[in-house]
Amino acid sequence: MHLILLGTAAGGGFPQWNCWMPTSRAARETPHRAHPRTQSSVAVSADGVRWFLLNASPDVREQLRRLPVAPPATGRQVPIEGVVLTDAEVDHTLGLTLLREARLLPVTATAAVFRILDEDSGILRVTGAFAQVPRTVLEPGVRTPLLYRDGTPAAITVEPFLVPAGPPSFARNAGADHTVGLLLRSAGHTVAYVPGCGGLDEALLHRLAEADLLLFDGTFWTNDEMQAAGLSPKSALDMDHLPISGPDGSLIRLATLPVPQKVYVHLNTTNPVLLEDSPERAAVVAAGLVVGDDGMQFTLGAPVPAALA
Ligand code: MLT
Ligand code: MN
Repeated sequence: MHLILLGTAAGGGFPQWNCWMPTSRAARETPHRAHPRTQSSVAVSADGVRWFLLNASPDVREQLRRLPVAPPATGRQVPIEGVVLTDAEVDHTLGLTLLREARLLPVTATAAVFRILDEDSGILRVTGAFAQVPRTVLEPGVRTPLLYRDGTPAAITVEPFLVPAGPPSFARNAGADHTVGLLLRSAGHTVAYVPGCGGLDEALLHRLAEADLLLFDGTFWTNDEMQAAGLSPKSALDMDHLPISGPDGSLIRLATLPVPQKVYVHLNTTNPVLLEDSPERAAVVAAGLVVGDDGMQFTLGAPVPAALA
């Protein structure tokens, strides 16, 4: 299984357009010290040739350029086989509308996510006015095979699991499966993709321990990151993001989790781990985790295809 981190920033990107905190300022003025990042999305492929998006970000147009897909001689080519969603947040779904020229855009998500996209954000109503959007409905705890656009199996299964989180702020009557993590399995290897998660109990840690590669919510460094900076009255946990640091944070728990590769994704523009030379970054690295960056590639099991090497 092959993965490319297409976007490792949280909603708004890095630097977020209206942010002049030290992290965002560094991304503009000294980008070697704080690499700019696009919004949260990952590409996954069993063969290194045909790709699925995990979430569709507002930066999808720019992100698709990273896919090693051979161009056709002429005409048009849709370089993805479909989109799998973890939730219905704007930063993870606005890209669906931006892919409307695909004409056929298969989407895989839970029933609650489809309902929010239909009734609350309207994103699938808009997208569906331009493209055919065949749906595959995921159920928590059930492994569902991903299919290519031609209907043949992609040799990847996806199993969603509930994570502690509230529904998007604009959602009415969301079902329990409005926000999930994904276990992606292919050829004996497992990736856990959890870009939004408000807690890490023993049961969830046990589930994540199966993975060979974990991509986990690294939105905030501290719980009061936005409050202390006067940017929001809400804490990280109010926004359903478990902070990295502190005795109840994710780092201390993930440090001992027996997963070979552990990577923080969905990094907010205020997070000091974005600064390459910060003590917070050093603490993440010392604990054996990686701060995700756009363009990072991971290959599990299969040889690296020439297009990716
Ligand atoms: C989140 O991750 O908390 C949401 O994406 C928030 C947002 O998009 O504004
Ligand atoms: Mn988000």
